[in-house]
Amino acid sequence: MSESTINIIFISIEGNTRSFVTGMQDYAKTQHAADESNPLITLKEISEQSEFEIETKPYFAFVPTYLDGGNGIDNGVKELMTNVLGEYLNYDQNPDLCLGVVGSGNRNFNDQYCLTARRYAEQLDTDFIADYELRGTSVDTERIYNVMKERLAAYTK
Ligand SMILES: Cc1cc2nc3c(=O)[nH]c(=O)nc-3n(C[C@H](O)[C@H](O)[C@H](O)COP(=O)(O)O)c2cc1C
Repeated sequence: MSESTINIIFISIEGNTRSFVTGMQDYAKTQHAADESNPLITLKEISEQSEFEIETKPYFAFVPTYLDGGNGIDNGVKELMTNVLGEYLNYDQNPDLCLGVVGSGNRNFNDQYCLTARRYAEQLDTDFIADYELRGTSVDTERIYNVMKERLAAYTK
């Protein structure tokens, strides 16, 4: 039963990611009510106060990007605010259970758009599965829910 749930681990400094995943959790409830085979969503928010835990179920990571200086590509990248999420995801066996990383950011940052999520996917040896800007749209919610649903089904098959 637990494998039919989409588990999301995220961080949110200014609330955009929290708003997006909470909205997606509501969307999942309506999808599940219409057809029980559609997975529900559980959320775990990481912050500086979080205890590190060893994950036991597959999960998806939602990662906003905060960078300072450099272009992040060829002259360095300084990650701000989100480092604790990176440490959590890399803790113990947690990398093995990550089914994919969803990135968010702002396209005004050009090449740095969603760069932290792309870097995390590489570090965790998983895929960068989707991206959206800021608080996302209802179209993003539906699209990203479906991507996760399919990946979870492929994993549990
Ligand atoms: C100081 C600062 C730096 C940022 N740097 C980037 C960046 O390098 N690339 C990017 O795509 N978005 C960048 N953003 C945009 C955030 O990733 C975006 O606002 C995101 O939705 C924040 O999520 P949160 O509200 O859940 O913390 C930056 C925002 C701030 C305030």
